[in-house]
Amino acid sequence: MKQILAPSILSADFKKLGEQMGLCEKSGAEYLHFDVMDGMFVQNISFGIPVLESIKGSTGMVLDVHLMIEEPIRYVESFAKAGADILTVHYEACKDVQAVIDKIHACGIKAGLTIKPGTPVDVLKPFLNQAEMFLIMSVEPGQGGQGFIPESFDKIRTLREMLNEKGITADIEVDGGIKSDNVGEVAKAGANVMVAGSAIFRGDIGANVSEFMRILKEYE
Ligand code: DX5
Ligand code: ZN
Repeated sequence: MKQILAPSILSADFKKLGEQMGLCEKSGAEYLHFDVMDGMFVQNISFGIPVLESIKGSTGMVLDVHLMIEEPIRYVESFAKAGADILTVHYEACKDVQAVIDKIHACGIKAGLTIKPGTPVDVLKPFLNQAEMFLIMSVEPGQGGQGFIPESFDKIRTLREMLNEKGITADIEVDGGIKSDNVGEVAKAGANVMVAGSAIFRGDIGANVSEFMRILKEYE
């Protein structure tokens, strides 16, 4: 499967955001991961619609929006209009998951469904042929720079098996604690979209992206 890197701008230096996004794109990142936090579903507040609008059209990268917000159905249209290409919502945050997925599709964009580390992968079963992407959170959502939870490997493997059994080739994204020294293992477990924040934006961004891409190519 094609391996994709999705740098998370949560760890970017916002006074240099355009420049840093450019470095990511030039060095081979295909998605840009955009973490929205509401201070309710998670404790922190990050950024939202006006920032996405200002990025829209300024990059060739796919805008991969991860909504860590309660009842995301309320904001699906706004984020779609603001430029999201993929909108991922938390299973735990939705009263009616199917309705949220349907609304995302009605906006003409791709739907992602994600689960927190404590949520069993089985809850995704009814939605396997409904979403284009499934995101396994490998840290508690809410902040960057945490350590990868090793139990996530089993969840990725189980989910890829569940998809394969049904002949579905959906993307599996993994988010949290991914570094150049574990990204290969994450790919081997069956994931193909890798989110990385601190490992990309700390230090030399171009060199960090290139190193991730070099490793990921080995798993295609
Ligand atoms: C965590 C966010 C992540 C975060 C990852 O709630 O969803 O996307 O930016 O950061 P790192 O790669 O530093 O763990
Ligand atoms: Zn994220």
